[in-house]
Parts: sequence; structure tokens; C-alpha cells
Amino acid sequence: MHFISRCEWAFLALVFLYSFIPAVVGLFRIPELLGMPAIVPPNPRAVIDPVPITLHILGSSVFCLAGAVQFLPSLRRHRPALHRTLGRIVAAAGCVSALTGLWMTVSYAFPAALQGTLLYGARIVLSLAMVAFIAWAVVAIWSRNLAAHRAAILRAYAIAQGASTQTALFLITMIFVGTEPLGVARDLMMMAAWAINIGVAEVLIHRAFGTRRSRATISSTP
Ligand code: HEM
Repeated sequence: MHFISRCEWAFLALVFLYSFIPAVVGLFRIPELLGMPAIVPPNPRAVIDPVPITLHILGSSVFCLAGAVQFLPSLRRHRPALHRTLGRIVAAAGCVSALTGLWMTVSYAFPAALQGTLLYGARIVLSLAMVAFIAWAVVAIWSRNLAAHRAAILRAYAIAQGASTQTALFLITMIFVGTEPLGVARDLMMMAAWAINIGVAEVLIHRAFGTRRSRATISSTP
């Protein structure tokens, strides 16, 4: 892995740190779901129906952590076969994450304080959008459309990393307000996290296209 630059290691470290609570601490729920003693505070919905949440935690962690590796330009340049193999795993994991998120949204009996109509609707729309973007990214790469592939996968990744931004906003609220947001406030906070991530992804995509377009203009200028 000598070809990975310092800047890329720093990017990976940042993403791992940012995703730590949902993607790594989330895995601590698995022993409880397999009938072992609980490590984290219990989630009654998970105890009643452990299948979707177990698949969700595993799929989400792989998508967010292995997905970060896929963004490294040097990996794509020096190990294209690894990028392709990992890409198939990450795409499948992303679909599992989104579809099980959808499954729990519609099948778990949430108290209104934890999932109101707003969050219910947002979860349905965004989990379907995440699957659609992953499928779009796969079709784009089959047609050798690199720009569309990158834009679609970045949009899917932004939706998935909504879980990390939700955790960050949650922690900030706990520090400043001292209580857990519930009801409509919670729904709005969760949706704000997705809006922030989608906004950042759109800026990155438009900057990348802008840079490429201006490079193309410069190189075509006589
Ligand atoms: C569109 C994407 C997603 C949707 C719609 C979604 C939806 C859900 C839902 C409905 C639950 C059940 C919550 C509960 O019972 O209180 C859940 C749990 C969970 N999600 Fe997601 N999720 C998504 C993406 C992610 C991602 C990408 C991660 C990780 C990086 C993640 C991490 C978790 C964890 C760790 C739990 C278990 C929480 C617990 O232990 O109580 N989710 N998710």
C-alpha cells in the first residue's frame, strides 16, 4: 500500500473517525442480536425482529468503510482490479444497507417520538434513491461513463453517510441543549443531516465537472 499518499491516508482516517459511531460502534449491537449479552443500550425493535437490523448494520459498515477506500485515486490507478472487486462488494453492501433501512422503516413499530411522518417519508425516499444511485453507478461504469459513475456513487455515499452526520448533529444537540431531540425536532434534525450531505456532494460534483470543463477549454484553446 506504499502507493497511497499521505493526503489519502488522512482522508481515510477522517472518514473512519466521522463514521466511527454508526459504522463501528453499531457493530457492537450484533452480539446482542445473536443472543449474547448486550454491550450497548437495548433497542426493543431489534430484539423483536433482529434480521433486518443485523443485515443493515453489516451492509452499512461495509459500504461506509470499504466505500471510502474506493474514492482513493491511487488505488484506482495502481490496483484497478482491486477497485473493481471491492466495488462489487461495496455496491452489494450499499443495496443491503438501503433496502434493510427501508424494511425497518416500514415494519418496525416506532414510537412517534423516534419516527414521525416526516422521517418515515424521508427514509423511504432516500433509501430508494440510494439503491437507484448505486444501480446508476453500475450501469454508468458498464457504459464507460466515468463522470456519471463518480457522480452517482458520490450521491449514494452522501445518503449513507447521513447516518454519521445525524450522529454528529445528535452529539452537538446533546452538548448544547442537554437533552435528546424527540418528535418533529428529531425528524427535522435527521433530515437536516441528509440535506447537508447531499449539498456537499452536489458542490463536489459540480466543482469536479467545472474543473474538467475549464481544463478542456484551456487545452482546446489554440
Ligand atoms: C438510506 C439509508 C438508511 C436508512 C433509511 C436507515 C434506516 C434505519 C432504521 C429505520 C433503523 C432502525 C432504527 C431503530 O430501530 O431505532 C436503522 C438502524 C441503524 N442504522 Fe441505519 N439507515 C440508513 C443508513 C445507515 C448507514 C449508512 C449506517 C452506518 C454507517 C447506519 C447505521 C445504523 C445503525 C448502527 C443502526 C442500529 C441502531 C441501534 O443499534 O439501535 N444506517 N437505520
